[in-house]
Order: sequence, then C-alpha cells, then structure tokens
Amino acid sequence: MEEPLESHVLILPFPAQGHIKPMLCLAKLLATSGLRVTFLNTHNNHRRVLPHNPCSPPSPLLRFESISDGLPDDHPRSLERIEELVLSIKMAMKAHLREFLLRECVQLPVTCVIADGIMSIGIDVAEELSVPAISFRTYSACCLWTYFCIPTFIHEGKLPFPDDDLDKEFHGLRGAEGLLRRRDLPSLCRSQIDSNLFRYFIDETIAMTQACALILNTFDALEAPMLSHLATIFSDVYSIGPLHALAIQSKGGHSSGRSESVSSLWIEDRSCMAWLDSQASRSVIYVSFGSLVKITVDQCMEFWHGLVNCGRPFLWVLREDAILGEKEDNVKLLLLELKVTSETQCLVDWAPQEEVLAHPAVGGFLTHSGWNSTLESIAAGIPMICWPRIADQQINSWCVSEVWKIGLDMKDTCDRSTIETLVRILTEDKKEEIMKSMARISALGSDSVGPEGSSSKNLERLIENIRKIGRTS
Ligand code: UDX
Repeated sequence: MEEPLESHVLILPFPAQGHIKPMLCLAKLLATSGLRVTFLNTHNNHRRVLPHNPCSPPSPLLRFESISDGLPDDHPRSLERIEELVLSIKMAMKAHLREFLLRECVQLPVTCVIADGIMSIGIDVAEELSVPAISFRTYSACCLWTYFCIPTFIHEGKLPFPDDDLDKEFHGLRGAEGLLRRRDLPSLCRSQIDSNLFRYFIDETIAMTQACALILNTFDALEAPMLSHLATIFSDVYSIGPLHALAIQSKGGHSSGRSESVSSLWIEDRSCMAWLDSQASRSVIYVSFGSLVKITVDQCMEFWHGLVNCGRPFLWVLREDAILGEKEDNVKLLLLELKVTSETQCLVDWAPQEEVLAHPAVGGFLTHSGWNSTLESIAAGIPMICWPRIADQQINSWCVSEVWKIGLDMKDTCDRSTIETLVRILTEDKKEEIMKSMARISALGSDSVGPEGSSSKNLERLIENIRKIGRTS
C-alpha cells in the first residue's frame, strides 16, 4: 500500500502588504500546529520581508521561497501601475508558479494550495496538477459578498450608477442593515465596468468558487449575516479572524513585547514608542493610511492643520512614497519640514502598528479603513475616524460607522474643519457611546480567538481538513 503523503501547504499571497500580513499569520499558525508550510512571495517582496521579520524562520516547518512576478526589478509595483502587475501575474508569474510546483512534486509534493482570493493562478495551477486549492480573500465578508453581487447589480441596471449622485440610497445588497449610499459601495463600483481592472477583480472573484473552501480574516459574531450569504456560494467557509490576534494567542499573548505577526515590507521606526510613553493616557490620535494609499500635498496640509487645530497630540505614519504628483525634491522638503518630532507631534515612515494601537496613550485612529487596520483597531478597542480611498475601504468604513457604530466616516471629504470636528466628536461629544459599542465588539473579537472561540474552532477544523486532504491526495 502506498504511504500517505505528508501534508504540505503552499501559501500564495497577492504581492502587497495588506495581503502578505494575514496570510503569513495563517502560515505561522499552520506551522505551529505541525503542518509543513511553504510561503511563496515574489522575489521583490521576499527581499523586503525577510530582514525585518524578527522571528524568521519562526518554525522549522515554515519555509520562505520566492518566484518572479515577471516584472523588471526596477518596476515600482505601485498602485498607479497595478494593471501591469496583475497582467504579469496572470501570464509570467503563472508559468513560474507551475515550474515551482512541478519542482516541489519531486522533492516534497504540495498537498494543498492556499491562494489569495485575487491570485486565481494558484487555483488554476493547483487544478492542473490535481492538488486541492483553498481560497483566502483578505477582505471582509461584507465586501466579498458585495463583489459577488456586482454582476447582478449590472444586470439590474443599478451599475454603472445611472447618474452622478453618490449620495443616493442604494438598495439590493442583501444582508446590509441600515442606510447604504452609492458612495458606500467598494470603489470598484465607481469605475468603468468595461475597464481591464474591473474585469480582473470580477473574474478573480468568480474564479474563487473553483476552490474547495473559503478562508476569511473575520469572526462570526462580527459578520454573521454576510457569512451566511457566502455560505450559499462556498460549501466550506472558515472565518478565522482576527488572525493577528489568533497568532498572538497561540504564543500566549504579548509576552515578548512584540507582535508575533510582524511581516512588514517597510522598516519600522520604533522611536514613536518612546514618544508615546511620554503622552497622557488616551490622548493621542494615531494616523495611518496603510500601505497603498497616496495623498496630495493639499490633502496632507488639510490633515496637518485639522490635527493641529484640534489640539491633541498625534502620531502620523507618512511613508516617503505617500505624496502624489510632486517632484521628489519637493516631497522631501515637505516631509523634512513636517517630520520634526515635537512634544505633541510625531511623524514616522512606518510604525509597529499593532503595538501602537495597544499603547495606553492612543485614544483614536484616523485610518484609511484597510481591513487589517480595521481588525487591529477592533482588537485593540480603539475607535476610528475613517477616510477610505480604494477597493474594500469604502464599505469597511460604512460597517464601522453605520453597522458596528465604532467610529465615524468622513469618506470623500478632506478639509481641516471636518477633521477637527470629527476628532472632537470621537474624543468628546460621542466618546461614551462609541466606546461602549467598541468595548462590546472588541470583547466579541477577543472571545472568538479564545480557546473555545469560533475562530479558534474554525482554525482547528481547517487544519483537520488540510490533513485529510493530504491523506487522500
Ligand atoms: C489594502 C486594503 O485596503 C485591505 O483592506 C485589503 O485587504 C488589502 O489591501 P492596506 O492599504 O495595506 O491594504 O491596508 P491594511 O489592510 O490596513 O493593511 C496594512 C497593514 O500594514 C496593517 O496590518 C498594519 O498593521 C500594517 N502597518 C501599517 C504597519 O505595520 N505599520 C504602519 O505604519 C502602517
């Protein structure tokens, strides 16, 4: 009788910070549970992640490998040129992935591929080689469900929007409680439906259904109605979030003082932690717009004045590549001018975000509503002011303000007086009300990753299923 294969999971993230982070958390959790795991980055990101991963390799069962994304080394791989990246993934990277998996077949055959929900090349190649594939979408359940509904919205004539009024109510998204406006839908709904990127994201979403199961970084108590809609599409859904909190739990909490899920493409500037130590309890507004969003100089100045005018200390992550459309020298000058840390202001290129949010001096988070940032804020119990820009962020901020009531939404506005007003509402006028909702949701999140919590149980189920798949491959 043939020996059953040892389970070997290949994890394939989309090459961007917000995707690598949760998928690496999952990789570490799987390896900790005794599964052999290969984490496959692009060469470009592999070079960036490894040096600042303090616990690499965190387990002898986890190995980091890389393949080419097909673009030249000097390509910026920026949001503005994402179309070139996704095209190259579909063609060149897919061929490299096939070669990689065939090589693995000889040494240590892969028994299960976990592919990012916008990396269907993982599902395709796995299918060619008769390896089962699971899809991991790094969005919320709400956003993923909305993406699945987009073809119906087009069919019903609701998309493209019949006119330019983004404040009009939008009806037809099942499971959406409360008032939903057109502007609250994912940014894809505002783009040309015949554009390459629109097609790409819809095709990728549909391709996910070829996988044998779905993984989401969310938890049952947060998104039960949306998860039940997704269960009508996928026979097996594993909601295992917040993954960073699950990773910390698996190591017994913050014992090392550093997050167990660190996986940054940027070098963290830890000087902000000492600055936070000098600030009063819950006084600081933490500002970060994630890894992809860029702002104009004007927007930068509106945020700056709004924050200064509200009279609270703030810690702002302003990446060097975050200012749009300016000559490099002008940006450098502006950043030099702003980045003079004072008693009440601290600016850094990149912060240890989970630790910042857990610091007792932080009282609010001005965020772009990326899904990881939203979950990290919930886990830390920090209320949010949301300034969503792209992709899932618009609907995430709607959930934060209208469904969970744990923050305020300032989408599509950016002026100093609005910023000042919202900070005051968050930290004074509506503080009690918002903090009460946040305490409730945050406790539910923490329960979900406890020993008997839904995410912990779902992760156990996932691991068992991966082992079973290995035995039958
Ligand atoms: C984007 C999307 O908006 C997100 O919802 C999607 O799932 C992936 O692509 P991004 O802009 O990277 O992601 O935002 P977010 O999802 O919030 O992820 C950013 C990550 O970088 C967070 O985990 C955050 O902790 C980390 N970060 C950010 C830092 O570690 N330091 C910083 O200074 C800023």
